[in-house]
Amino acid sequence: MLAEKNILIGVTGGIAAYKIVEVASRLKKSGANVRVMMTKNATEFVSPRTFQEITGNAVSVEMFGDAANFHVAHISLADFADAILIAPATANFLAKMAHGICDDLLTTTVLACDKKILVSPSMNTKMFDNPATQANLEILKSRGVKILEPATGNLACGTSGKGRLPEPIEICAELEKIFDSGTLAGKKILVTAGGTVEAIDPVRYIGNRSSGRMGCEIAKSAAEAGAEVTLIAGKIEVEPPKNVTVIRVESAIKMREEILKIFDSVDAVIMSAAVADFRVKNPAAQKIKKSDETLTLELVKNPDILRELGTLKKNQILVGFAAETQNILDYATKKLVEKNLNFIVANDVTAEGAGFSVPTNIASIIWRDGNVENFPKMKKSELAEKIIERVANLLDEKKFFPVNDV
Ligand code: CTP
Repeated sequence: MLAEKNILIGVTGGIAAYKIVEVASRLKKSGANVRVMMTKNATEFVSPRTFQEITGNAVSVEMFGDAANFHVAHISLADFADAILIAPATANFLAKMAHGICDDLLTTTVLACDKKILVSPSMNTKMFDNPATQANLEILKSRGVKILEPATGNLACGTSGKGRLPEPIEICAELEKIFDSGTLAGKKILVTAGGTVEAIDPVRYIGNRSSGRMGCEIAKSAAEAGAEVTLIAGKIEVEPPKNVTVIRVESAIKMREEILKIFDSVDAVIMSAAVADFRVKNPAAQKIKKSDETLTLELVKNPDILRELGTLKKNQILVGFAAETQNILDYATKKLVEKNLNFIVANDVTAEGAGFSVPTNIASIIWRDGNVENFPKMKKSELAEKIIERVANLLDEKKFFPVNDV
């Protein structure tokens, strides 16, 4: 994927700069045309000559020095690059980059570049955790800069913690990813997350234990795979991912309304929301005062949104979830068929390491032909990737089930 690509590596002044020699070498071996730009401080750690020998190209350091036949170095190298990798990125460099300061060749080049940028921070844990650094990283992320999280381990300053530069092979893999337009490029995916909130009165509601973690991870994974993602979220305990359109709803009725507005235009729906099956028939307009010893609420059935989508679907892929506490396979299979889904993700919410509010899940994917994939306990983010991988395959193969295949 990196063959023929023009990669500009910006090396800043951190001890991990030596690891970038291997990064440059790997990129060169994979067929990329690599140029290196160093800050003055970086040259204290590694000689420009080392990078020059490895890449076969002159290394730029000085703003006004010999820039190896480039007339305006910061513009020409910014134009040359298909992507820029900044590694290691010091706290100082991140701060300058976040605020558009350009006081040397590298900061100026980065500001003049509208291509993809991958930043690999490396520093002392306290510097990394400092709210100033974290805020700068947030600014960069919000502008579409990809940040490679530092690894945890022994640091050059003699301490141990988060802040190590990841291994060269990981940096190269991450760089490859930014050229991958993704398995869902050009696809529109609708994901629902969290629990619906059904009003009792202006103060109270009927809710459920869904945290929205799984749905948010799925939305994130779909966006990373290149899809245009809409996340319709009920009550969630986590931050929705960036780069997705978020529509917040409360009730099942509202969630249905928002889903139906865009259902025709999407390629797949992944319904991970915990939709309340019942709502209060007549929510009180004013706060209910305690009076009698008991209070009776009349509940009426909510629409089964997924079932309705199953009857409406044309070419869309439909994925459901079944959060069960017993007879998981039987109940989930019944939902898979009755709701006309392509596959269903089932899990036992009472199992340790699965279910609500935990970052892991133990799930099975059940297919229409009876095939069952049982996964071990894994992070919700990993399960999300598996789900997205399968949705992408289905969209790719156009293995659609006939309409009304119930
Ligand atoms: N679902 C939905 N609308 C509802 C209830 C559920 O769209 N009113 C969706 C969920 O988002 C999930 C799937 O249907 O993807 C299965 O939900 P679940 O609550 O497990 O099943 P129910 O059909 O509600 O059946 P039961 O509660 O009786 O187990």
